[in-house]
Amino acid sequence: MRIISMCLTILEASQFELMAVRLTSVNILKGTATNGSMEPVDVISVIHKDHANLAELLNAVERQLAAFERGERPDYDIIQGALDYCLNYPGLYHHPMEDLIMRKLRVRDPVAADAVGDLEADHQALNGETRRFAAVVDDILQEVEVPRETFETTARSFIEHYRAHMEKEEKVFLPAAAKVLSVNDMAEVEVEMGRRVDPLFEHGDSDGARFEALRKNLMDWSREAP
Ligand SMILES: [Fe+2]
Ligand SMILES: [Fe+2]
Repeated sequence: MRIISMCLTILEASQFELMAVRLTSVNILKGTATNGSMEPVDVISVIHKDHANLAELLNAVERQLAAFERGERPDYDIIQGALDYCLNYPGLYHHPMEDLIMRKLRVRDPVAADAVGDLEADHQALNGETRRFAAVVDDILQEVEVPRETFETTARSFIEHYRAHMEKEEKVFLPAAAKVLSVNDMAEVEVEMGRRVDPLFEHGDSDGARFEALRKNLMDWSREAP
């Protein structure tokens, strides 16, 4: 096997440690993948796993919204942690990876790509919605007067938009991509994106404190769930 290029970069992005090992697709296809194993990372499986994690996260935000609607004070650390996470891991890694997969789908099967629609625009809209919700929470914490319905409608819109987006991806986008993308297409996506550690669900020590309240809430809830 001839290694054409390999470099290890450790970058800091928004205080996260981003570890990306970039190899050529030749390396990956011949058996040295960016996950350090002999197998290439299945990028479709990474997307599925992220969606399962995001579903848990949205449930956590919804529990805080329910507390607010009962007249209790929600745990804003949990909400802020969830929004911080969404703007970083999905915003900077998960969605761009889907955009890349989408570009390949458009080449391989334009009809299927048309059925998915403009995924990139959806991602921009989701990021905008996340930032709006984060701004409302910041205002509340800074004791700026915010009408109750503003918090409720912003939170509900964020949760529902994210859920609808992921449902479309699970039902339409990912099955279409899994059907027509080649192993080489997948390898090229992995090469382009590198491999990023999920700071909440695969957290390293550096992010331990940052998401502590949110992580504890998710763990407590999973222990209590039947
Ligand atoms: Fe997406
Ligand atoms: Fe997604």
